[in-house]
Amino acid sequence: MNKENPVKIKFYNGEDIPLELHKVRIVQKLHLVPIERRLEALYEGGFNTFGLKTTDIFLDMITDSGVNAMSDNQLAAMMQADDAYAGSQSFIRMQKAVEDVLGQKYLLPVHQGRAAENIIACAYIKKGSLIPMNYHFTTTLAHITQYGGRIVELLYDEAYKTTSSHPFKGNMNIEKLEGIIIKEDASNIPFIRMEASTNLIGGQPFSIQNLRDVKAIADKYGIRLVLDASLLGENAYLVKQREPEFAEYSMGEIIQIMTGMADIVYFSARKLSSSRGGGICTNNDKIYREMEPLIPLFEGFLTYGGMSVREIEAIAVGLYETLDETMISQSPDFIRYLVNSATEQGVPMITPPGVLGAHVNARDICKHLDKREYIAGAFAAAFFLISGVRGMERGSLSNQRDEYGNETYADMELLRLAVPRRVFTLSQIKYVIDRLVWLNENRELIGGLKFVYEPPVLRFFMGRLEPVSDWPQKLIAKFKEDFGDSL
Ligand SMILES: Cc1ncc(COP(=O)(O)O)c(C=O)c1O
Repeated sequence: MNKENPVKIKFYNGEDIPLELHKVRIVQKLHLVPIERRLEALYEGGFNTFGLKTTDIFLDMITDSGVNAMSDNQLAAMMQADDAYAGSQSFIRMQKAVEDVLGQKYLLPVHQGRAAENIIACAYIKKGSLIPMNYHFTTTLAHITQYGGRIVELLYDEAYKTTSSHPFKGNMNIEKLEGIIIKEDASNIPFIRMEASTNLIGGQPFSIQNLRDVKAIADKYGIRLVLDASLLGENAYLVKQREPEFAEYSMGEIIQIMTGMADIVYFSARKLSSSRGGGICTNNDKIYREMEPLIPLFEGFLTYGGMSVREIEAIAVGLYETLDETMISQSPDFIRYLVNSATEQGVPMITPPGVLGAHVNARDICKHLDKREYIAGAFAAAFFLISGVRGMERGSLSNQRDEYGNETYADMELLRLAVPRRVFTLSQIKYVIDRLVWLNENRELIGGLKFVYEPPVLRFFMGRLEPVSDWPQKLIAKFKEDFGDSL
């Protein structure tokens, strides 16, 4: 038995297949359009997968954010939302869930995760502040720099290895953390940020032991510890699987050990709780008061924070459902299946499998491309073209230029194929693997991209690109040769 299969359901034939412990009750029709239409769609969308429309997309694996399947109980709760500007019962239910699940007394509601980042940055970052973190997330970096701060990323070298068996690549390098604090002076460091299931390096978790070590240093120098809990459920699940000390702990116990060490916990409810919205939580009265006035200023009154009351109800139920291991394990188990099967068939994947999505190592596949040609962006466009599957570029295109306007090349060039919770079937995942294998075998046909419109901030969202040659047409010709009239 693979020890990472929590539901422990064996197949007689010995296959390691993740078995769904839910049934589908509402479905949505998908569109698998011909490859010629997919090429047109790419041109219309500026060869940026964010520019595509869902009518042209077969499997939308761009993100898990706000697109995890909701449960019947969440939908039911949304029907009894209490629509009040102030003092809504829905908010009180969310507060109770935050206290029960995350162990945090105070809750500041916000409209999504990046809004929490804006509030925290606005409250604590001054010009020149330094924020040590295990790794940045795009919106976190944008908000910190917006307020004049800088970041330093402190992963261990192992995290930058694309293939590894290290169970906790999201761990923070403790020696480097202490070195930076001594060099910089603690007074210039308003907080240390730990991101659960570190998104941009492949959804890789940190261990509780590492968090304890970070906490000890934060306490030693009197620095706040901020936990980005957007992917906390998955991090907790992998702690249970991979950190022997916690093998027998419940999800709830593990979650509260982690949140209990942080001074501020914030989350995107688009991820945590399978809904939309977000929150900033704390047990510290002073911290709460420091951020409280910013909520009505940026978000909305303190009992809705820019969210609809229906979403608030869905968050409350979704937070409790995070404690259900059969729910939280579904996406990581499908990802593990995808990563292991693709790897076995020769596709370079980031290992060990993480959470939120499978990550394809585009740099390894497209060795013939120059780093200035946006390798992961080109691979994402090529993969959409030959499969109708929309992934997300996670490489240099997602980086921002430095203060002098120079490119800052990413440590990794990845195509992220998100696997939102309980959305796809196993045959759809098998289709993804099949097309990945084909594209890997025809990788020489993939060419580069160049910008035709490059916005100054978060360029990966709105930027428009075009291919540097007629490589998409050549890829189509080979697809037709191999697949005939198959979509
Ligand atoms: C780790 C992490 N932090 C913050 C955010 C930002 O959250 P949102 O998209 O709700 O603004 C995300 C979103 O993907 C995330 O993955």
